[in-house]
Amino acid sequence: MKSYDFGIVGLGVMGRNLLLNMADHKFAVAGLDLDREKAESLQNEATAEQDVKATTEAQEFVNLIRKPRAIMLLVPAGKPVDSAIHSLLPHLEEGDIIIDGGNSYFPDTDRRFTELAEKNIHFFGMGISGGEKGARFGPSMMPGGDRKAYERLRPIFEAIAAKVNGDPCVEYLGNGSAGNYVKMVHNGIEYGIMQLIAEVYDLMKRGYGISDEKIQQTFAEWKESEVQSFLVEITADILNTFDDEGNRLVNVISDWAKSKGTGKWTSQNAMDLQAPVPVIDAAVTMRDMSKFKPERIEAAKKLTWTPAQKEFNETALLAQLKDAFYFAMINTYAQGLVQLSIASETYGYELNLEVVAKIWRGGCIIRAAVLEDFRQAYSRNPSLKNILLDDAIAANLIRTQEGARAIIKDAVDQGVPVAAFMNALSYFDSYRSERLATNIIQAQRDYFGAHTYERIDREGVFHTQWN
Ligand code: 6PG
Repeated sequence: MKSYDFGIVGLGVMGRNLLLNMADHKFAVAGLDLDREKAESLQNEATAEQDVKATTEAQEFVNLIRKPRAIMLLVPAGKPVDSAIHSLLPHLEEGDIIIDGGNSYFPDTDRRFTELAEKNIHFFGMGISGGEKGARFGPSMMPGGDRKAYERLRPIFEAIAAKVNGDPCVEYLGNGSAGNYVKMVHNGIEYGIMQLIAEVYDLMKRGYGISDEKIQQTFAEWKESEVQSFLVEITADILNTFDDEGNRLVNVISDWAKSKGTGKWTSQNAMDLQAPVPVIDAAVTMRDMSKFKPERIEAAKKLTWTPAQKEFNETALLAQLKDAFYFAMINTYAQGLVQLSIASETYGYELNLEVVAKIWRGGCIIRAAVLEDFRQAYSRNPSLKNILLDDAIAANLIRTQEGARAIIKDAVDQGVPVAAFMNALSYFDSYRSERLATNIIQAQRDYFGAHTYERIDREGVFHTQWN
């Protein structure tokens, strides 16, 4: 019987596109979906040159794949992943590999990893970024699991991944749930940068009264600059899209933002690890704020603020905004990357941040020109604590901070909320503060709760009878 190189369970858009991508690269691939229509539509979509087989039968599917079998699940996170594993298990053999390609919550991945290891089945949690198009023509992939078993997957993943200067945007990341964890933080950074872009847009439009055309033009120009990124590019496209009545589409889209939870998990876990990620926190909070629409309508009438009339020099202003965006974006990546290094220590992932920066340079939603700067920074100094401390990056931050400080002042004067920008700047200002005001917090804790404090001039632990 003919044997297939790789199998995917779940033939939704992502599953189908990944299989077709593999087939383009001459791998023989099999797909399983209980929904006959989905299985048939994949079979019909595949061209004569593509070696694709789709089925609705788990037993038949498993038998198609060469041993040790490599099977990826592309089903919604949560229970469907457990159900899919459960339905495959009776047909699998020791040494086979299951890869969860969804945005699973990382503790679930650890549980599955351990349960399956007892059965000698290798389990991988692998973040996949880049959406439908990425899956079809080159995603960024973040695999974590058993290093040896990864060798079975490597040639396939390297072939289908996005490439930057010939390097595939996939590399083994670490143990257990490392892959899902890295993807979760990727999404947290994604939330942060999306929020920063929204704030830039709001400030230009409401704060400075810049025209829609000029805003669009500005983002289009940024595509060719140091702030180049996928998210800037799609924003330029979005601002240039009109509906059938000629409205700029973005102006008629509701401001009530949805989310699936990965940004929130990043913030929640960052709190557990005591890893400050204030830009990501602000981004999650702003999506939550957006849900209070009826109250915001009421508050807009009641809680008024009339900004002083101010003349703005548009050219100078746009240069400042670009600096500010660059500055805040670097601070956002910095926060996510520090969270990764703390998580790596805590959970034993053994992450290499140069590799993370390298595979984020292409294919994924947060790909940006600055990722190559980060990769170089980690390559210069693999134990770099924070990218803010890299000499080249620090010089850029020193140069652009003035822009951030200026636009935040304008936003405050105009009454435009820029929570992510403010949090980026206070992260920077607190990180570069040799002495923070937390001495007063320690004194207060000791005052009301006898929690004790340390002194800077003497060894030991102290308590004062304050009153
Ligand atoms: C990606 C995206 C992808 C998805 C997000 C959206 O990397 O391709 O991050 O995973 O679009 O899950 O997340 P929200 O629905 O939470 O905004």
